[in-house]
Amino acid sequence: MRVFVSFEGPDGSGKTTQIGLLATRLEQYGLSPLVTREPGGTALGRELRALLLDSAHSIAAITEALLMTADRAEHVVQVIRPGIAAGKVVITDRFLDSTLAYQGGGRGLPFAELRAIQAFATGGLVPDLTFLLDLPVEVGIQRKQGSAEVNRLDKESLEFHQRVAVEFRRMAAEDRQRWRKVDATQDVQMVHTAIWLHVSAHLEASRDALVRDENE
Ligand code: TYD
Repeated sequence: MRVFVSFEGPDGSGKTTQIGLLATRLEQYGLSPLVTREPGGTALGRELRALLLDSAHSIAAITEALLMTADRAEHVVQVIRPGIAAGKVVITDRFLDSTLAYQGGGRGLPFAELRAIQAFATGGLVPDLTFLLDLPVEVGIQRKQGSAEVNRLDKESLEFHQRVAVEFRRMAAEDRQRWRKVDATQDVQMVHTAIWLHVSAHLEASRDALVRDENE
C-alpha cells in the first residue's frame, strides 16, 4: 500500500498545522507517518533553503526553479523513496506543484520546461493525493505578517501571489483524481476533518485493492 501525500497552497494557508494534525491522526490509526518538506527536507536541502529564502539574495527566476528542483531531486532520493519503501505514509509540505505555481505561474517561466525538469528530478514520482489549502491571497499574507519569519518569496507583490494562487486552482481543477481542494478559511478542526475524510477514504481504497491483489 503506497500513500504519498503532498500539501500545497499559498503562504499562510496553514499547511504546517494541518500536516501535524494529520500525522497525529495517522499514528492513532496505527500507521507511521513521515513528515517532510520542501525546500529543505535533506541536509543539502536545508542549505539550499537558506540560500533560496534569504532576502539578501537576488536570484534569477530560472536559477530559482533549478535550485528548487535540485532540492526536490535530493529529497526524492534521500527521503521520499526510502520512506515509501519502508511502508511509511509520506507527507510532504510542498512538492513539484509548488515549482509549477511559483516559478511557472508566479515568475512566468514556461510550463513545458518546468514539467520536463520535474519529471527528470523526481523520476516520474507523483503524489497519490495532493491537498490544496485554498484561501484568498490577502488572508494568507495577513496571517504570515503576524509570524516572525518573512522570507524572500513572502515579500513578492500581491499580483505575484495572486498568479501563484490562480495556478494552484487551475491545476487542482484539471486533475480531480489527485487534487483535493479544501477551504482553508474554515476553522482548523473543520479543515482537518475534511482532509481526514479524503485520506481515510484513500487508505480504505488502497487496503481493498491490496486485499484483492492478495486473493487473486
Ligand atoms: P516556507 O517558509 O516553507 O513557506 P510555506 O510555509 O508557505 O511553505 O517557504 C517556502 C517558500 O518557497 C514559499 O514561499 C514557496 C516557495 N517555493 C517555491 O517558490 N517553489 C518551490 O518549488 C517550492 C517547493 C517552494
